[in-house]
Amino acid sequence: MPPTLPIVQFRAAAETIDLGWGHPHPAALPVDGWAEATHSALRRYGAAMLTYGHAPGPGPLIEWLCHRLAEVDGAAPDPTHLFVTAGASHALDLVTAFLCRPGDVVLVDSPTYHLALRIIADHRVDIVPAPTGPDGIDAVATTDLVRALLRQGRRVPMLYLVPTFNNPTGRSLPPAVRADLVEAARRTGVTLVEDDTYRELAYPGPAPPSLFSAAETGTVVRIGSFAKSVAPGLRLGWVTAAAPVVRALTARGYVDSGGGVNHANALILAEFATLGLYRRHVEAIRVRYAAQRDALVAAVRRRLPQAEFTVPAGGWFLWLRLPEEAAGTRLLPYAERAGVSYLPGNQFHVADTGHRYLRLSFSLFDPETLAEAARRLGAAYRSAGLSGASARISP
Ligand SMILES: Cc1ncc(COP(=O)(O)O)c(C=O)c1O
Repeated sequence: MPPTLPIVQFRAAAETIDLGWGHPHPAALPVDGWAEATHSALRRYGAAMLTYGHAPGPGPLIEWLCHRLAEVDGAAPDPTHLFVTAGASHALDLVTAFLCRPGDVVLVDSPTYHLALRIIADHRVDIVPAPTGPDGIDAVATTDLVRALLRQGRRVPMLYLVPTFNNPTGRSLPPAVRADLVEAARRTGVTLVEDDTYRELAYPGPAPPSLFSAAETGTVVRIGSFAKSVAPGLRLGWVTAAAPVVRALTARGYVDSGGGVNHANALILAEFATLGLYRRHVEAIRVRYAAQRDALVAAVRRRLPQAEFTVPAGGWFLWLRLPEEAAGTRLLPYAERAGVSYLPGNQFHVADTGHRYLRLSFSLFDPETLAEAARRLGAAYRSAGLSGASARISP
């Protein structure tokens, strides 16, 4: 019987090329490789794969992750610093619950991953943008802000950021800013919550060393994911943190009661890696997504030359700045009429700002479709007649 209820999150609007979704290209999902790894893992682990798992995550995945991070990051974590989660979203929810109490101040980078703002807001904290400069978060101004908040009697337990191939900007924090930020966090006692979801999607790489690998133990909690490097439907990710944090996450009632959070998939991932499929897959998707990025970059330059942007060295997004006031927001209805969509920049800010920007995701579509999307965007821009100071939305 064909299913009558929906199966997936993404639904393509007819006739619209929707660049708003940060979802993988369907052909980049390793359907056959995952089937092979599933069979192989079942043969290797047998009943141990289908029973309750080790609470912080199964040993084979934790051991392999340590090796992999030694290859693609500044240093390998200790196995006692790893905790396997049901994705980065779940990791952020867990970490926020662990660090924060209702009414605390949580600092965030701006712009930042819009749905992280929703996850953090679920914890009834006050979300405050950290001060930023041209290179990202300004460590000195952030230290001053934290000290002022502490003097007012507020708690400031964490600062959330995506320092490597940021969603939405695609940019990475320069090494000097990373060092300043880690030092500021150490001095103020604010935990940096580093979302490292895009580390593996480096074109061609390597990605810069994580804050976690550069900081003293205890200053940074880093969250990672297999959603972009393998498949979001696995709901599989991880945390690297000081051993006491890992022990506290492991001791949570539902983790203890359930025997880890995603045991069977974690073992299949370990097998996917053991068979050499992970390495091959990541190499292939890097080539694919770099080609998709290049196609969109070239098409935007040709069709929308007014847009300014930095070509991202990794991740899935182009972050365009248009010259006219609030153009990212004002262009959207014209774009949708022309058959293309995107997310306007204000969605990635806590404050009412960012309206001049738009985020285009190049992950979901072939180069030809991306070229057509840029053509439609250029046509929409011309039909919108954006110039003029009448917009009441801030830039
Ligand atoms: C920066 C960032 N963090 C986390 C996520 C969600 O990751 P997961 O699917 O592992 O929950 C995304 C997905 O777009 C993301 O861009």
